Amino acid sequence: MLLLVDSGGAEDKRERLAAIGEIAAEVAHELRNALQIISANAYLAKQDPSSCGPQLAKIERSARLAHGIVDDLMALARGEPAHAEPVLFVEIIVASREDLPERCADWNDRVDPAQLRVRAHQGLLSRCLHVLYENAVGASAPRTPTIETRAWAEDGRVVIEVADDGPGVPPEIASTIFEPLVTARAGGTGLGLALARRVVAAHSGTIALVASAPGTTGATFRVELPTR
Ligand SMILES: Nc1ncnc2c1ncn2[C@@H]1O[C@H](COP(=O)(O)OP(=O)(O)OP(=O)(O)O)[C@@H](O)[C@H]1O
Ligand SMILES: [Mg+2]
Repeated sequence: MLLLVDSGGAEDKRERLAAIGEIAAEVAHELRNALQIISANAYLAKQDPSSCGPQLAKIERSARLAHGIVDDLMALARGEPAHAEPVLFVEIIVASREDLPERCADWNDRVDPAQLRVRAHQGLLSRCLHVLYENAVGASAPRTPTIETRAWAEDGRVVIEVADDGPGVPPEIASTIFEPLVTARAGGTGLGLALARRVVAAHSGTIALVASAPGTTGATFRVELPTR
């Protein structure tokens, strides 16, 4: 006998379906870079199959990254809380830059102390940082930006700031920037920061655009995560 269980009202289902649709779009958004690296390296490997070891290694790494992205983000779609554990913040920085083009930015990392640990799901928090980096690079193009990442512990939380020296966020979208589909970038879909906010919320944290220091240009984003 087939039993159909209705686990909620129609409105509830519509809301869940909308959330899943949004996350599916965010999965696609995050897979783009990994897929691009896979195609580019498959192309290069075919040019000279006799010495394609480095390209195959990059393909393998990006395929692993892509699997992780699907698994981690789909867990969010199921409404599971992020499985957070103490992880070295510098490891999150490294993972977040794995699928960014080489030399896309001048990096300036100020992690204090260098062994700072954050309670986080490594895969998810790396995606959040990745979104902030990708946006800083995109907003500054064709210039190569300097991106400063600051992280420190304060009053029972870890504060992470990502500051760039690009043109800054257009004022007309500053108050809605974390909503899905808000974009001011040609070719943008407005999903990156919505994903970043979802990831931070799954860690019971907050994310905000903060005012840049007087006399400077650029955008600064601040993430605050509880330490327990
Ligand atoms: N560092 C930044 N400097 C300047 N503008 C920014 C920065 N980060 C975000 N923005 C602005 O916020 C908008 C929304 O960013 P978001 O990542 O959500 O979407 P997107 O980058 O436009 O598109 P997508 O990430 O889906 O490809 C961007 O279009 C851009 O105008
Ligand atoms: Mg973006």
